[in-house]
Amino acid sequence: LNKTYSVKIEGGDEITVNVQLDGSRIQSHVWNVVGSLDLLRSARDVRHQFPDTLSEITLPEGKTAAVLLLRELLAKIKGDWIAGDDDPEICHCRKVSQAHIERAIVLGAHTIEKIRKRTSANTGCGACMPDVEDLILKRIG
Ligand code: FES
Repeated sequence: LNKTYSVKIEGGDEITVNVQLDGSRIQSHVWNVVGSLDLLRSARDVRHQFPDTLSEITLPEGKTAAVLLLRELLAKIKGDWIAGDDDPEICHCRKVSQAHIERAIVLGAHTIEKIRKRTSANTGCGACMPDVEDLILKRIG
C-alpha cells in the first residue's frame, strides 16, 4: 500500500511524505520538505529515526512551528489525527475558519488571547470559545 501524507502552512512550510506500507510495517518513506531551516533540520531528525512499524511512531515534543507540523504529519501517518470538517467556520461573528485558527496556532498563538489578537476569532459573542480551546488542545495538549 502506497500512501502520501502532507502538512503545510499556506505560503510557507510544507512536508510531504510518501509511505510504502505492508500491513503496519513501513517498507519505505520518501520525504519532501520545503521551508525554514528549523523545519528542514527537525524533519531530517525525524526521518533518520523513522521506525519500522506504524505503532512505533512517536510524536515529537515541543511547541515550535516545525514540531507542531511534524506532530500533525506523524499523527496522520499513524491514523491518529482528527481532521475535522474541510474548512468549517469556527467563529461566526468574525467569519474565521478552522484552517485560519490552526495556522495561527502552528505559528505560535497558543492561548485564546493570542488567537483573538491574530485572527479576531472569539472577539464577538464568545460562543466559539470551546471550539477554539479544542483546537489549541489538539495541537498543544
Ligand atoms: S462565534 Fe466567535 S465570537 Fe461569536
